[in-house]
Amino acid sequence: MMEQWKRKVAIVTGASSGIGREVAKQLALNGMIVIGCARNQGRLEELSQEVTGASGKVVAMKCDVRKEEDILSMFDNIKTQFGGADVCINNAGLMRPSPLLSGSTEEWREQLEINVLGACVMTREFVTRLKERHCDTGHIIMINSIFGHMVPVGSTAHMYSVTKFALKAITEGIRQELRVMDSGIKITEISPGHVYTEIAERAFKCDKDTAKAIFDQIAPEALYPEDIASTVLHVLSSPPRVQVHEMKVIPVTAIRY
Ligand SMILES: NC(=O)c1ccc[n+]([C@@H]2O[C@H](COP(=O)([O-])OP(=O)(O)OC[C@H]3O[C@@H](n4cnc5c(N)ncnc54)[C@H](OP(=O)(O)O)[C@@H]3O)[C@@H](O)[C@H]2O)c1
Repeated sequence: MMEQWKRKVAIVTGASSGIGREVAKQLALNGMIVIGCARNQGRLEELSQEVTGASGKVVAMKCDVRKEEDILSMFDNIKTQFGGADVCINNAGLMRPSPLLSGSTEEWREQLEINVLGACVMTREFVTRLKERHCDTGHIIMINSIFGHMVPVGSTAHMYSVTKFALKAITEGIRQELRVMDSGIKITEISPGHVYTEIAERAFKCDKDTAKAIFDQIAPEALYPEDIASTVLHVLSSPPRVQVHEMKVIPVTAIRY
């Protein structure tokens, strides 16, 4: 029942591409005011235009989750313009082919800062500001990965796996801290298998066809962003008493998970 979230505010990080873009779009089509954040403001504006006429909307806010000052000023803007956020979807992320014995420190740092620290700062600010509003309902969704549950054999993406294993601990740690606060705020991690997005093109600096060929070796027909967006809608539709803690969503054809 997405009815409970109509006209409520959701933040989606990494809304300029792939999974985040589709999640932001579907939430807006279901009546939410979506703050779409990423570094590429132009692509966020395009998304915003695409959902014009829906019952909700996407508001573009440029924010680099590696920069704490960007995150803080985004939350300040949300407070001024909309009163505050009710849902926080930590989706921004990237993968680098950077092995643990030969990868570059800068590529490790980039993944740790975006995939782990960015999600932590976002969530701390989200919950702090909900508490300031004396608001006891809200939902945090972490977009994890199947690589947050297993270390892929023969992969160069081991540091990516490190960041995603960390998200698993962060999700449970936050759940426990919310229990101590006796809060009704919920947290869920969704772990997709391979999804056709720009992740592989960006990681391997290759074109779309090469990226697809890389994915096809692991799952001949991967998922689409819509598949993850519908999982997000399902999770958000749960009644207040239900904590959907963890969901793995993988292609039927997956060979190597
Ligand atoms: N595709 C898959 O197979 C797959 C599988 C499991 C999990 N995931 C996870 O799904 C999430 C989304 O990835 P995707 O597959 O949709 O990849 P994508 O198409 O490459 O999108 C990544 C998004 O993250 C944003 N981003 C990157 N660095 C950022 C930063 N410093 N600050 C703010 N936003 C930033 C990008 O926006 P800008 O470049 O505009 O900043 C973009 O919108 C990631 O967490 C990824 O680990 C993906």
